[in-house]
Amino acid sequence: MLVSDLSVKLGPLTLRNPILTASGTFGYGEEYASFYDLNRLGGLVTKAVSLTPRPGNPGPRIAETCGGMLNSIGLANVGVKKFISDKLPFLKQLTCAVIVNVAGKTVEDFARVVAEIEAAGGVNGYELNVSCPNVKEGGMAFSADPHITASVTRLARQETDRCLIVKLSPNVTSISEIAISAESAGADALSVINTLVGMAVDIQTRRPKLATITGGLSGPAIKPIAIAKVFEVVRAVKIPVIGIGGIMHLHDVLEFLITGATAVQIGTANFVDPDIGARLVTELEKYVEQHQIHKMNELIGSIQLQQC
Ligand SMILES: Cc1cc2nc3c(=O)[nH]c(=O)nc-3n(C[C@H](O)[C@H](O)[C@H](O)COP(=O)(O)O)c2cc1C
Repeated sequence: MLVSDLSVKLGPLTLRNPILTASGTFGYGEEYASFYDLNRLGGLVTKAVSLTPRPGNPGPRIAETCGGMLNSIGLANVGVKKFISDKLPFLKQLTCAVIVNVAGKTVEDFARVVAEIEAAGGVNGYELNVSCPNVKEGGMAFSADPHITASVTRLARQETDRCLIVKLSPNVTSISEIAISAESAGADALSVINTLVGMAVDIQTRRPKLATITGGLSGPAIKPIAIAKVFEVVRAVKIPVIGIGGIMHLHDVLEFLITGATAVQIGTANFVDPDIGARLVTELEKYVEQHQIHKMNELIGSIQLQQC
């Protein structure tokens, strides 16, 4: 029998397989533990953790749209102290990778959250969500500015040797410029992409469906954009890229891997199908056996670009 090795590397971190769950769609893991053994996953990425607790935005903050959903959760979370006391004990028992998604209002906040969690131990890496709207001094989006992205990454890098991932926004002029700035500041990997700005209107009330008017669009509608961004970023940097956006089926996972993503994250699909993470791992195992793929590198970046 063929023994396939599904493991992939993200800098210092080895994942047992390339399937991760995406931040904000999988709670702190425990919420999904009754659906399947979370250790089947390559890893999970927690909901954002910020320095102080955040209530998030007012409701309504979710709207269903054609091919996806809009959200304006606003990084609601328990804050780093409660994360360490209430959420980390469960996460510490897991054998899959545990990556903490970090949010901050200021450039320095990110490094402070990383430092506090490092002191507590028990996680395998950090994903910096640089898509927050404002910085202390100016109000420029972190993710749109290569210098701010580099500063956030550099400060966080000083606090940890564990896998440091920077999550990029597609709502920028040049995602590869931001990708290069994160790589040069010490990121081990990049997550591509976060949600796209979207809006929906209720035709009865003639009001926007979200209290914040616009929100983040996710789900199958964004997959072709995500694939194009992965394609662009993979060519711009040497570090691994994690593909995110609209994954619902195994063929979506394969599309990202073939385009060059080293791993993928499953987001909105967790709301539709809570056991999708484990199912995709099983389906990927079967696929690599059927296709006699011994290592994931035979698939990753195997896209054929020659003209037919
Ligand atoms: C309800 C919701 C909450 C989210 N919260 C976060 C978050 O806290 N941090 C973050 O980096 N991304 C967050 N995201 C973005 C997802 O992690 C992911 O990048 C995005 O949804 C695209 O993947 P998908 O199309 O598979 O959902 C959130 C997405 C949704 C739908």
